[in-house]
Amino acid sequence: MSKRFYVTTAIDYVNGQPHLGHAYEKVITDVIARAHRSLGEPVFFLTGLDEHGQKVQQAALAAGQTPQAYCDELATAWRSFATKLDLSIDDFVRTTSPRHQTTVQAVLTRLDREGHFYPDTYRGYYSAREETFLTEKDRRPDGTFDPIWGNVVELVEENYYFKLGAHQPWLLEYIEAHPDFIVPDYRRNEVLGFLRHNKLEDLCSTRPATRLGWGIPVPFAPAWVTYVWFDALSNYISVPADHGDPAVRAALGEALPATPAVEGAGPLSLWPADLHVIGKDILKFHAVYWPIMLRTLGLPLPRQILAHGWWQKDGQRMSKSTGNVVDPVAVIDAWGVDAFRYYVTRELDVGADGNWTDAGFQARYQAELANGLGNLVNRSLSMLQRYRQGRVPARSADLAEPAHQATQAVRMALAAYRLQGALLEIWALVNRANQYVDQTAPFRLAKDPGQASRLDAVLYSLAETCRVLAVLLWPFLPSTAGKIYAQLGLTGAPDRWSGAEWGQLPPGHTIGAVTPLFPRKDT
Ligand code: ME8
Ligand code: MG
Repeated sequence: MSKRFYVTTAIDYVNGQPHLGHAYEKVITDVIARAHRSLGEPVFFLTGLDEHGQKVQQAALAAGQTPQAYCDELATAWRSFATKLDLSIDDFVRTTSPRHQTTVQAVLTRLDREGHFYPDTYRGYYSAREETFLTEKDRRPDGTFDPIWGNVVELVEENYYFKLGAHQPWLLEYIEAHPDFIVPDYRRNEVLGFLRHNKLEDLCSTRPATRLGWGIPVPFAPAWVTYVWFDALSNYISVPADHGDPAVRAALGEALPATPAVEGAGPLSLWPADLHVIGKDILKFHAVYWPIMLRTLGLPLPRQILAHGWWQKDGQRMSKSTGNVVDPVAVIDAWGVDAFRYYVTRELDVGADGNWTDAGFQARYQAELANGLGNLVNRSLSMLQRYRQGRVPARSADLAEPAHQATQAVRMALAAYRLQGALLEIWALVNRANQYVDQTAPFRLAKDPGQASRLDAVLYSLAETCRVLAVLLWPFLPSTAGKIYAQLGLTGAPDRWSGAEWGQLPPGHTIGAVTPLFPRKDT
């Protein structure tokens, strides 16, 4: 059983409908997952929902539903949202599912048995909105808390604490010794700064069920439920446990049910995760709490954490109360899923913050998708239809060099998660090919019978460039890549990187019907 490339996203709180930020994270993770698949690596891509905790409990209450009914209803919408985004996911986790809850309880049982928890009184400030405790340091000079925390209340209650603090020294050393553990490096430096200049406090890991009933019962203290972050982070191992992952099952073995509920292909080797893709706001949970939890369980740490930036709209924080939100479903319904995937990936480098503007979206659609890629494919294949009845002429290599260069550059960019950079390289080839059409002027060559073999060469190079582009585009714009393939009359999907090598379009082959990839829109 060979280990798969195991890549995860954050699991989203089901306290509302999915928004641009959620969609963005899932799309960039899908690009990474597809890139690995294209390169021939077996992949396991996991996403899902974080359903417990105060945020969700409050949202359910406000909706007049039980938390479970509320989550079940929204989970259906979120699951179809993943399909809408064209995510190539292998599983979808819900933290209210029995398979997840079993693992969380096994984790707690094991850690308790080994003395990692102790009871103590909690006294302090709590932000329900962000599910987090605040300290004096979070107060502003005037004594109040930033409105991002919502309503902050003072609490005094008994809880169980996880001995986090003792782990600070090795974690700091580990992050120092592994420069690629947290990327980009400016986020790594944030974590290093935090660990160097603050004393890591033990983590309050339970909530009294009387105050917050919506959580996983603590097996060794049934009057408490598990802190939602402790619960949520465990999704990254509960799904592997369910698929019979040997590492997770060895660590939790006797605390889990004897036979994993494996569906389909039998046990999978997943852990350690190769990549956790998350937003910058939840880095501390993933880069500090999670590694310590894993270490105490005797499990290897994930190989890498990639922290992406945050989107604003028109230069402002998105918020439902001001109506300043981008509804990804509406955008996809109007413009197509690939236009959405393209814009969010092209607009910003992974790590940096982004700013959505409708004008910017439409400008990229017109210039880069419709007039750039769409026009290239449309005129290349239309001319092949018109001048050669759709039959691919003899091979030529006019654009072989730029195609080869683009392939190399895109591969390197993908390996470094420079997804924006990869698209720039692909569009350099698009632009080069469009320029080639203008320079060679095939419509003029077609008028001169003496230029027939020159025209053959031009038409082959253009059609073959379209084919190579389909392969390079597949991780980013899978449905567009598939359409290019279909218009070329090729069967299957352009989902193998080896297909990017020049010259695979066979002379004599007949291409399919040509239709615009990105119809122009009046806006
Ligand atoms: O934090 N731009 O859930 P969540 C970009 N359940 N990304 C954004 C964003 C924005 N405007 N808003 C949110 C949680 N995100 C926890 C995670 S993981 C074990 C538990 C990102 O629904 C955010 O950074 O608040 C996070 O990675 C993801 O969406 C889910 O956010
Ligand atoms: Mg959040």
